[in-house]
Amino acid sequence: MGPWPLDPRGPQAESIAFLYWILFACAVVVLAIVVGALTYSGIKFRDRPGRVAEQFHGSNTLELIWTVVPTLMVISFTALSWNRLNFLNDVNSNVAMTVKVEGRQWAWTFTYPDSPTFKLQDGTTLQAGEQLDIPVGQKVKIELTAKDVIHSFWVPNLGGKKDAVPGHVTSLWIQADQPGTFKGQCFEFCGDGHADMLVTVVAHTPAEYATWAKTAVDNANRLNDPKTAAGRNAFVTGPCAGCHTVKGTTAAGKVGPELTHIASKANIAGVLSPVNQDNLTKWVRNAPSIKPGTVMPKFEGVLPDDQIDAIVQWLLTLK
Ligand code: CUA
Repeated sequence: MGPWPLDPRGPQAESIAFLYWILFACAVVVLAIVVGALTYSGIKFRDRPGRVAEQFHGSNTLELIWTVVPTLMVISFTALSWNRLNFLNDVNSNVAMTVKVEGRQWAWTFTYPDSPTFKLQDGTTLQAGEQLDIPVGQKVKIELTAKDVIHSFWVPNLGGKKDAVPGHVTSLWIQADQPGTFKGQCFEFCGDGHADMLVTVVAHTPAEYATWAKTAVDNANRLNDPKTAAGRNAFVTGPCAGCHTVKGTTAAGKVGPELTHIASKANIAGVLSPVNQDNLTKWVRNAPSIKPGTVMPKFEGVLPDDQIDAIVQWLLTLK
């Protein structure tokens, strides 16, 4: 099922669904009794020929019942909600990790904890947009704020919603019991792009989470590395751009394949797989030795080695 609070996939969402079902069941019973009694009385005691309506004043028993029973119900709902709210609002105990989340028109930014796992080479910590990756079975605290207007963070299968308010930090926690992908949506009307202000939470098993974090940190480091910028520059100003197109740059050659998403491709020119540093370096250095007859010339000795390295590093960021 899609994003839906009654399909809970973690303790926070389960608590909310539990409260919902109890209140809903009681409401249905009360509705049935009230509407049932009303309908029954309306038919049984209706005015009709040959019948004189009975005149009476009040019934202590009935009045007592319909005062005491609803009072007890409301008191129990209050106690139950209070108890669940303590659990739902407890953002500080047993927290495995804290992620800072900022909403802006119209996207979310996630900043991972300032810990060795998420540390980048330049000393900052890993950031991501749109998608938040969390470990399964662990309580993740979310410190929420907004840059421009009020937004609201809500991933229904995992937890309750909370407003993201500019200049103010609110917090909530989410937890997933099983690996999976959970969709969410900004829940406060925040302008034109509100409906597109989506959020995806991906829950990984602890072992997969470590791998995911390592890859994410490596990718971010590569993106921030000055060598990557040098590679981009060498590509767009050098011979590569004469044949290849990379969207978003001035490279617009039409002879060779477009490389806009080369790092996400299954292979290089159909002959080298996977697309990684080793294979790309081999290919750029000497494509004709790998695929005889290819139009791609040999660049070994044509471009300096460090420039080829830099170009390869930049190509690896093109996902
Ligand atoms: Cu952000 Cu609606």
